[in-house]
Amino acid sequence: MIPSGAYRCWAEIDLAALRGNLAWIRHRVGPHIKIITVVKADAYGHGLKQIAALLMQSGTDIFGVANLVEAQAIRSVGRGWPILMLGACLPQEVDLAVRDGVMPTISSLTEARALDAAAARQKKIADVQVKVDTGMGRLGVAVADAVDLVKRMTALRHLSVTGLYTHFASAEDDRAFSREQRRRFDSVIEALRAQKILPPLIHAQNSAALLHEPGGACNVVRPGLLVYGIVPPGRRRWNKLADVHLHPALALKCRVSLVKEIPRGTRLSYGGTFVAPKKMRVATLTAGYGDGYPRAASNRAEVLLHGQRCRVLGRVTMDQMLVDVSRLKRVRAGDEAVLIGQQGREEITAPELAAWCGTVPWEILTGLTYRVPRIYRGAHAA
Ligand SMILES: Cc1ncc(COP(=O)(O)O)c(C=O)c1O
Repeated sequence: MIPSGAYRCWAEIDLAALRGNLAWIRHRVGPHIKIITVVKADAYGHGLKQIAALLMQSGTDIFGVANLVEAQAIRSVGRGWPILMLGACLPQEVDLAVRDGVMPTISSLTEARALDAAAARQKKIADVQVKVDTGMGRLGVAVADAVDLVKRMTALRHLSVTGLYTHFASAEDDRAFSREQRRRFDSVIEALRAQKILPPLIHAQNSAALLHEPGGACNVVRPGLLVYGIVPPGRRRWNKLADVHLHPALALKCRVSLVKEIPRGTRLSYGGTFVAPKKMRVATLTAGYGDGYPRAASNRAEVLLHGQRCRVLGRVTMDQMLVDVSRLKRVRAGDEAVLIGQQGREEITAPELAAWCGTVPWEILTGLTYRVPRIYRGAHAA
């Protein structure tokens, strides 16, 4: 065992922040709307079991996962929680999904029949949810076929359709297209209601839609990024941003391992993509793309050292990277560097790092690798 003080690159997860974020979402949607907290991909890199345990105590109603492995991890922490598998249920998975009581997402009658047969074999009624493709083009039944699918599913005796949902493709960027998706979803809801076969749970809103789109007929929301304290970046500006009380739960940190002076003309790191234009002080840091710090940050990103922003110099390598500390005279080996998070008055957010790297905060968070220990602080830290 290595004491945490000797970690080279680690993530600190503030559980009190997570709890507060869920409380803010609850406040925003009101007491009668159910919350599906999306905990795919190791709870967006925060550590699935610990986050699931916290969310169970903090008022989540349902968990959203990508696959059965994630569902089993949640079951190992607490029994009986409804779990929606947001990914399609593979033919190889149907028996397991029914056995584990995970709600699969249904896009076709073929999928529905396979689950019905699995439930019949196990003498169970399987809860499932139907997804409608209103413009994402990934999963879901076509709008024109949705009513027919739900109607046919009511005849399958071992299935119970507990929900109907859709997914916005660009709620953070495109108001007009989001409204069109909403209109298409509403048309399906109206038709099912008229035929008295509307499932009880109706949802569409991911984090961006929760901020930008009205809830309409929905009685469930489905946020991921907001739970972790991050407002999805995009072209749409929410006019009540000042009312958003969210705090990023994750900070990514590492240490200085060496500080040296380099003369003008020195090439730094693989490929020599940075050549010192003058005499500089450079610090070597103990994090790299093997930890999930993106190589795309090379020569672009900044990190925090002694509360100051320091630019990344040259290519990020697997375990190490270099930063400019010319302005910081007292930096030395062992000092803490912040790659995501606050230090002093400065803060580098996951969206800011993502923008430097030409990617999105979801990829930054879920890209943190197994070798980054997660240290939990705040309420109910283990
Ligand atoms: C179907 C579905 N719903 C909800 C979410 C949560 O999205 P966000 O993190 O933007 O809130 C995701 C995330 O990828 C998703 O795939």
